[in-house]
Amino acid sequence: MDDINLADALEGASAIRDAELFSADKGHLKRRTFAIISHPDAGKTTLTEKLLFESGAIRLAGQVKERGERRRTRSDWMEIEQKRGISISSSVMTFEYDGLVLNLLDTPGHADFSEDTYRTLTAVDSAIMVIDAAKGIEAQTLKLFEVCRLRDIPIITFVNKIDREGRDPLEILDEIMSSLALDVTPVTWPMGMGTDFRGIVQVGAQGPVRLTRNTRERVEFASLDAFAADPTLATDPIFGPSIEGLEIARGTLPAFDVDAYRSGHLTPVVFGSAMREVGVRDLLDAISTFAPSPLPQPALPAAIQPSGKEVSGFVLKIQANMDPNHRDRIAFVRLTSGVFKRGMRLKNVRTGKDMKVSAPMFFFARDREIADEAVAGDIVGIPNHGTLSVGDTLTEGSTLTVTGIPSFAPEMIRRVRLPDAMKVKQLQKALNDLAEEGVIQVFRPVIGSSWLVGVVGALQLDVLVSRLAVEYGVEIMLEAAPFDTARWVDTDDAAELDRFVKANQGDLARDREDRPVFLARNSWELSYAQKNYPAVRFTATRERH
Ligand code: G4P
Repeated sequence: MDDINLADALEGASAIRDAELFSADKGHLKRRTFAIISHPDAGKTTLTEKLLFESGAIRLAGQVKERGERRRTRSDWMEIEQKRGISISSSVMTFEYDGLVLNLLDTPGHADFSEDTYRTLTAVDSAIMVIDAAKGIEAQTLKLFEVCRLRDIPIITFVNKIDREGRDPLEILDEIMSSLALDVTPVTWPMGMGTDFRGIVQVGAQGPVRLTRNTRERVEFASLDAFAADPTLATDPIFGPSIEGLEIARGTLPAFDVDAYRSGHLTPVVFGSAMREVGVRDLLDAISTFAPSPLPQPALPAAIQPSGKEVSGFVLKIQANMDPNHRDRIAFVRLTSGVFKRGMRLKNVRTGKDMKVSAPMFFFARDREIADEAVAGDIVGIPNHGTLSVGDTLTEGSTLTVTGIPSFAPEMIRRVRLPDAMKVKQLQKALNDLAEEGVIQVFRPVIGSSWLVGVVGALQLDVLVSRLAVEYGVEIMLEAAPFDTARWVDTDDAAELDRFVKANQGDLARDREDRPVFLARNSWELSYAQKNYPAVRFTATRERH
């Protein structure tokens, strides 16, 4: 199975989906909407693939005969991906496990391009954190974890690659506890690691436990105590120390507490190997048993209850030009309440305009299928021509506004230079599209005419230049701007804001929604402005609406 990759595997997924599953009568209580957070290379892709296999969403049979054809399709796709420099293939993967509908939202893996990832995390109810057993908590994991913590998103940890030499399991648990300030409870425990790897045992199980080395090698014991006390194992040079570690963990760590997990204070930890398919079923069981169904969505004037009758949802992501021949533009909408039906009219609260949603889609990686019904927790794709933006709230009529979808202050600012002045209109449209998609932020200086673009990571700049050329036929150059950072400015005291704006015209710009943004040359200038205008708030994160 190891030679099947995710792209191949996903293509088979559509054939064996159970259409029945997505009917609304399964209800939001049957949904588990989650994302995987990890540092690049920890094994997110491999784990995703194995989750799909293990749940039966993809089968091996029938995959082989079309192999050549699929390879070709895949490499075509990857060419676009390479040109765009980011992963664009799979945004949502929906599959069934244990009578539940699991919606796995993909987060772009690139360490440099994380704004999209942050927004994805606002649309999930729980997350899986994948850690490499040899490397422990890495920079990107920590960053993403902090975002999860802002919303107290419950996290299940998968310690991957225990088939390789890794750190001692107790040491890994200790690192999770100390660097993330989380309680930990092991779900499985490894017996040896690397070449000494002998299998995992279920820690929390009442009754019989299995020692699982791979899909074929399982040995059952009457209980965990019986396993730990087995004299041949206890004296074994590999099992002995592992059992000792297990006993220390059992004696010192708290028992699993579902409330502590759901409030984001405790993480169950599965030790496993995605590649060897060890612990993957334990992980799926942990998701289906512990992970919460859709939670209330923070909104104004009041949180949206998933059991509410009125259909509501919000746009978490826009993908434009997925297919360069068709200039399509899809808004990914997470439903937050009600039973959505195809053909419904929904109102975009930001613009006040109604739209008939006649071709909503479910996404199965690259595969799309018309969605007839969907409930809270589901992600549907709505094709549109620019009417929807990231952060928009859709309802059947109420003026609710979903909150908590952040924009981040750019950390790099560049001036856009357009050599061909005839293309100024195209440039304007393209920048606007890409800003709506969340690829870049666009600022118009109060004084001067050239556009400024702001990004969080350098890769976004490459993506911008290449997409402008490939998709809009506009060649641009990016020049250094004298600014280092930007802050949205805001105050309760209108006169004070006025005074600030008048005095700082040269350093002010407007964002896409015409909000004032202060551009600072360096951090000293920013703190100087903050000191001089104590009534003005300078914010690095802004909610979209
Ligand atoms: P990512 O999406 O988080 O970036 O990680 P990905 O799944 O691509 O895995 C990164 C590398 O780690 C891959 O190796 C993958 O095969 C390997 N890997 C994933 N899970 C395990 C595991 O449980 N055990 C071991 N030993 N390795 C694992 P690669 O050499 O970069 O690619 P490939 O040639 O194997 O495809």
